[in-house]
Amino acid sequence: LPLKTLILFFTGCCCVVGEENITNRYFPETFQFGLASAAYQVEGGWNEDGKGENIWDRFLHEQPNRTTDGKNGDVACDSYHKWKEDVELLKEFGVSVYRFSISWARILPDGSANRINQPGVDYYLNLLKELKANNIEPLVTLYHWDLPQHLSELGGWLNPQIADYFGEYARVAFSLFGDYVKRWATVNEPKSTCLLGYGNTMDAPGLVLIGDGIYQCAKIQLLAHAKAYHIYDKEFRPTQKGKISLVLDTPWNEPISDSANDKEAAEREMQFGFGWFANPVYLGDWPDVMKERINNRSSQEGIGFSRLPELSQEEIDYINGTFDYFGLNIYTALLVGYIPDDDISVPNYWLDKGNTLSSDPSWPASSTDWLHYAPFAMRKLVNYINDLYKPGEIFITENGWCDEELIEDPDRIRYHKGYLSSLLDAILIDKVNVVGYTAWSLLDNFEWTSGYTQRLGLIYVDHDSPNRTRTWKSSGLYYKKVVETRCLVD
Ligand code: NOJ
Repeated sequence: LPLKTLILFFTGCCCVVGEENITNRYFPETFQFGLASAAYQVEGGWNEDGKGENIWDRFLHEQPNRTTDGKNGDVACDSYHKWKEDVELLKEFGVSVYRFSISWARILPDGSANRINQPGVDYYLNLLKELKANNIEPLVTLYHWDLPQHLSELGGWLNPQIADYFGEYARVAFSLFGDYVKRWATVNEPKSTCLLGYGNTMDAPGLVLIGDGIYQCAKIQLLAHAKAYHIYDKEFRPTQKGKISLVLDTPWNEPISDSANDKEAAEREMQFGFGWFANPVYLGDWPDVMKERINNRSSQEGIGFSRLPELSQEEIDYINGTFDYFGLNIYTALLVGYIPDDDISVPNYWLDKGNTLSSDPSWPASSTDWLHYAPFAMRKLVNYINDLYKPGEIFITENGWCDEELIEDPDRIRYHKGYLSSLLDAILIDKVNVVGYTAWSLLDNFEWTSGYTQRLGLIYVDHDSPNRTRTWKSSGLYYKKVVETRCLVD
């Protein structure tokens, strides 16, 4: 055992004893702890120093009541000005990695690489240099939902050309920042973008194309991801030697009963909600069950083609294998049940998929309906990914709890402790190669349509104070101890 660990052991560090009674419950020395954020949720400075408008700026300026509190990300946590203070906090946490995203329109105001906004570039260079000076590695997401408005007017994620624009943007980012960045994520939760932005008015740009537009959106985001991957692979990897992948999300889908129908429904849920993106990247092509069901339903609806756009062999080959790790956002679990196929001829993802979704009454609820405390989800999901997609390496890019507490947040402590313990089971007992964990989130930030009403930070932010004062929560102090000791202290 490393010296630090031995000292902690003999000085009485009390690690939580695991299910199978493993006493030295320490995260491996190479395991990276960190925290995560995203540009629109923390930066603010929405129109400063030449930044272009993006779809979230437009979406919320146009109609402020799209968020619960009528607020937007114009100022957010003001990280555009307070980035040094943010790095200072990261340093106090003792973490070795910070996941943040680049605002596309901050460096390319029109989305196109023909005009680079130097002050925007400087902002990220300063942040990267400050992280480096503090020995914190960046994990940089290129796209966390803030498409430049101009590109949305070209059709956004429904227009195949956006994949080309994304490729150009990625090339600019790799060449400007690649010396500092050794782990990239192309797109964050493409499913959320497609379902909530193109299938629902929840997220920008707020279109409702639930039966077909969402599938088109998925295809184009996958092509965009693959384009960025290939550009990195050919032009930058030889010198920069980093890793690149995408970030996918799913709850763990647990069958509601042992019946064969419910088990099949849970697996179908996995395929529609996760395999939709993971299959093309890790195995090649859409999941069979999606192809079959959407094709059948399309013909019942009287259409002579599938609403799920086909991937040509060339596209399959282009997308397949475009990963160096698996970026996973995992928050919760769901119970999935079978419902008999009805013959309603409506083009709709939820009907294409079937299934009933619920949560178990024994799982403690958070302040938001989609999130429950179900720590077993972590171990099951990373095992599922490891077995099915064989990514080599898994990185937990998000995991966090939502409440309305200010400073004392015992439920968030329980959450991180429980999920990290479940992760530790996967690492130590099941030998799944999970290499890092960036908790969501460093700060209470702009939680999309919930505005500032829902808090997920380990640091409290007073959004009413002019300088967005940051204060440690009890969960922040807890996580700091975990990072220091590498074990789940009481
Ligand atoms: C996933 C998203 O990536 C992030 O932006 C969001 O804040 C969290 N989920 C919590 O809802």
